[in-house]
Amino acid sequence: MSNRITSLFGIKYPIISGGMVWCSGWRLASAVSNAGGLGLIGAGSMHPEVLREHIQKCKAATDKPFGVNVPLMYPQIEEIMDIIISEGVKVVFTSAGNPKLWTKKLQEHGIIVTHVVSSSKFAIKCEEAGVDAVVAEGFEAGGHNGREETSTMVLIPQVRQSISIPLIAAGGIGTGGGMLAAFALGAEGVQMGTRFALTQESSASQEFKDLCLELKEGDTILSLKKLSPTRLVKNEFYNSVQTAEDRGASVEEMRELLGRGRSKKGIFEGNLIDGELEIGQISSLINDLPTAEHIVNSVVAEYNIKVEDITSRNIKF
Ligand SMILES: Cc1cc2nc3c(=O)[nH]c(=O)nc-3n(C[C@H](O)[C@H](O)[C@H](O)COP(=O)(O)O)c2cc1C
Repeated sequence: MSNRITSLFGIKYPIISGGMVWCSGWRLASAVSNAGGLGLIGAGSMHPEVLREHIQKCKAATDKPFGVNVPLMYPQIEEIMDIIISEGVKVVFTSAGNPKLWTKKLQEHGIIVTHVVSSSKFAIKCEEAGVDAVVAEGFEAGGHNGREETSTMVLIPQVRQSISIPLIAAGGIGTGGGMLAAFALGAEGVQMGTRFALTQESSASQEFKDLCLELKEGDTILSLKKLSPTRLVKNEFYNSVQTAEDRGASVEEMRELLGRGRSKKGIFEGNLIDGELEIGQISSLINDLPTAEHIVNSVVAEYNIKVEDITSRNIKF
């Protein structure tokens, strides 16, 4: 398999593990890269010096390309970017902010820049800002999400029509069939978050992983819409958010309710009651905790079987 995404990043398979707070440390990123995908370290939950340590450990654990995801609202962004540049990271995925801010500077240091969006409008802004590739993420996805609530099925073909640079699909993809569907819609790579959050190498707590394996259809929901829409498990914390939103709580009240460190409490420390439990809709399809290498290999194998299957079913009309 070779296409614009595999060539851009120098990888074997166009499969990327999303940079995820409290899940994507050096262990997960290096395991995905060693398996032939592109592993991302999630800087969003790391103090700058912790990020440096993860980058150094990732470099020691793989000689394959890997990258760092940086949510652009990160408070110590200058420090984070300095570390990325000085450690010689080759790939950066930015999210949650304006792609114009950092793209040029990173590219001047030879870094490939990809930006994450949830609409065609912002995909066009990415192309104008000169990014090398775009991740278009649909409303099924775990974590922070677009206000428009556009699903991956609807988003990808529209983004494909809007831009000509390489396109990576994200949101609700966790299988080879999902990857094939995304490719049929015009994507050239997939970024999977939830599937890789539920692996051996993910740094999420065992309690969080065990809960996610039990989730059924409808057990996650887009919440925190007044602050920053985020897909969460419907637990007690979500119930209190919902109650507050229903009585018309102000943004300030919502901010106070969310407080600090909620996602750490839920995902990393395993507090399933008071924690903010970010995970995607595809969790309802997942009931195992394999290694990241197994995921990459099985997604590729299933993709190939599905291609054969569709061809042999002679479903042309
Ligand atoms: C627990 C969790 C944490 C996430 N944290 C981030 C993050 O820090 N930065 C980011 O750009 N995306 C983040 N995401 C989104 C993923 O990178 C990815 O785009 C998304 O999970 C894809 O959809 P899926 O969950 O349906 O596979 C997170 C997702 C999850 C599940």
